[in-house]
Amino acid sequence: MEAALKEWLKEKVSAPRYRHSLGVLDAACELAGRHGVDQAPLKIAALVHDSARELPFDEMVALAEQWRLPVRDVDRIAPVLLHGRLGLELVRREKGVEDPVVTSAVLYHTAGHPEMSLSDKVFFLADHIEPGRSYAHLKQLRAAAFDDIDQAMLMALDINRDYLIGKGRPVDPDSLELREALLEAEGPDLG
Ligand SMILES: [Fe+2]
Ligand SMILES: [Fe+2]
Repeated sequence: MEAALKEWLKEKVSAPRYRHSLGVLDAACELAGRHGVDQAPLKIAALVHDSARELPFDEMVALAEQWRLPVRDVDRIAPVLLHGRLGLELVRREKGVEDPVVTSAVLYHTAGHPEMSLSDKVFFLADHIEPGRSYAHLKQLRAAAFDDIDQAMLMALDINRDYLIGKGRPVDPDSLELREALLEAEGPDLG
C-alpha cells in the first residue's frame, strides 16, 4: 500500500510537496516510536494529508460541495482549511483507504481539533517538525514534541496562530477550542 500511495501522490503534487510528505512520514515514524503509537496508519496519513493541497482554492470549495463534505463559513473564507478533508476523500474514492486512525490524523492535521487522539497529535507535530521545515522556534518545537506532546501542541498552535494573525488570515475555531482544552487540562496557573 505504501509504495502504491507514493506513486499516487507523486501524480497529485509538486516535487517539493512530495518531499515534504516523505519527511512527514519519517518524522511521524520517529515520533510515534517515542510516544508508543502505531506507525503504520501514520505512514499512510503522511502520503495522503497534503494530496489535495495544490488544488486551486475555488476548486477546493466546489469539490467539497460536489462531494457533499461539510463546508463551514471559515472554509469559504480560507478554502485551504479544506485540503485535509479533500485529500482524505480523494484517497477514499481512488484507493479505498478507510482506516479511522488515518482518517482522524489527516482530518485534524491542518488546524487540530479538541478531540484529537495521541496518534493525531503525533501526526500533527510530525507535519510541523519534518526535516524540510525551517522557521523560528522549530528547534524548541522539535525538542518539545519528543518530550511533552501536549506542551508541544500548545507551542505549535501558538506558532500557527501568530503566523495567521500576522498574515491577516482567519484562525480555525477548532484550533482555538483545542488550545482552550489543552490549557484547561494543564490545570490552573498558580504563578
Ligand atoms: Fe497540510
Ligand atoms: Fe503537510
